[in-house]
Amino acid sequence: MLNVLVTGGAGYIGSHVCVALLEAGHQVTVVDNLCNSSARSMDAVQSVTGRTLNFTQMDIRDTTGLVSVMQARSVDVVIHLAGLKAVGESVQSPLAYYSNNVGGTLSLLHAMEATGARRLIFSSSATVYGVPDFLPYTETHPTRPSSPYGHSKLHAERMLRDLCHSSGDWSIVALRYFNPVGAHASAELGEDPRGTPNNLMPFIAQVAAGLRDRLTIFGDDYATRDGTCVRDYLHVMDLASGHLEALSYSATAAGFHAFNLGTGQGTSVRELLAAFEATNRVRVPHEIGPRRAGDIDAFWADPARAVIHLGWKPRHDLADMCESTWRWQLAHPRGFQ
Ligand code: NAD
Ligand code: WQD
Repeated sequence: MLNVLVTGGAGYIGSHVCVALLEAGHQVTVVDNLCNSSARSMDAVQSVTGRTLNFTQMDIRDTTGLVSVMQARSVDVVIHLAGLKAVGESVQSPLAYYSNNVGGTLSLLHAMEATGARRLIFSSSATVYGVPDFLPYTETHPTRPSSPYGHSKLHAERMLRDLCHSSGDWSIVALRYFNPVGAHASAELGEDPRGTPNNLMPFIAQVAAGLRDRLTIFGDDYATRDGTCVRDYLHVMDLASGHLEALSYSATAAGFHAFNLGTGQGTSVRELLAAFEATNRVRVPHEIGPRRAGDIDAFWADPARAVIHLGWKPRHDLADMCESTWRWQLAHPRGFQ
């Protein structure tokens, strides 16, 4: 049993990670400033697991506050998900992204240094790779992010690498997530975007539910099999289990290690839409619109390193992703509100 601090644990991915941690018997402490989430997700985590966690509303840039929470809870390991994640917003407000994602990570590292915690699992992103030189992306693919968001993730990784070079005490795993979708099987937890969803799956779900008129497919003239962009969608519970495996790995592997978490399967926008309609027997009205600035034609993961070294294996298929999204959408049309 570990005492795990989860930063950003009230968010979409963090709340599912908390479920996996509690079900594995760990003690969980969440720090989140709720800038993009609701504390009700914490109630849902406790209700689906039947276990309690400790929640503190706090900004991770408050280093002193973090130190006191970590000392009070005897934190051994940190899973660091707190951060901002909207690519377009990062172009408009780059300093907010560097402050939260780079400054926030720096503050957390200071708090870890002060309290003696030396194991960290970091939420990185496939967006660190940028325009592909080859596919699927391996972890050795060059990193050339194309947005302030992507740069903030890569800067954070850089700090983590440098820290590991400075001392052999640290054990840090960066998980580069591809496109997480889906919801917990209970339909009590899921993605709860504020305002208009930026991402494809929650947008599809809201159109299917009649909350929005139609989906606009951002371009059908890409160099892909059906002209729409191809991505590597993975179930959020498979992503959550990857964190458990990374925790085990970090117990014995000193230094900095990066792993892709994706299924290795590319799915186009049209294919995801068709899968959602077929699985859930719903219609999703849609139209073709112009390309969205900055979108890459296609990318997907080579997950071999995570499969071999972490023993990670995604278990859910595209139908599970669509079905769980839809059940969450139906059960909670207004999310956690
Ligand atoms: P989310 O917005 O649902 O969760 C992030 C959480 O962090 C939120 O609860 C937010 O309130 C909190 N937070 C933000 N800044 C904070 C701060 N300064 N102090 C304390 N709390 C703060 O997003 P998510 O989809 O769950 O993403 C979690 C992590 O995974 C992020 O770091 C994101 O960059 C990364 N990631 C997400 C995706 C994705 O598609 N969802 C893909 C790759 C990587
Ligand atoms: C998927 C596809 C869109 C909405 C983003 C971030 C990335 C990572 C995951 C954090 C694209 C198309 C979308 C819509 C559409 N996040 N689309 N109509 O862009 O692959 O990745 O989230 O690290 O950094 O960039 O995901 O879900 O936004 O889009 O046609 O209304 O769906 O053009 O091809 P993306 P997405």
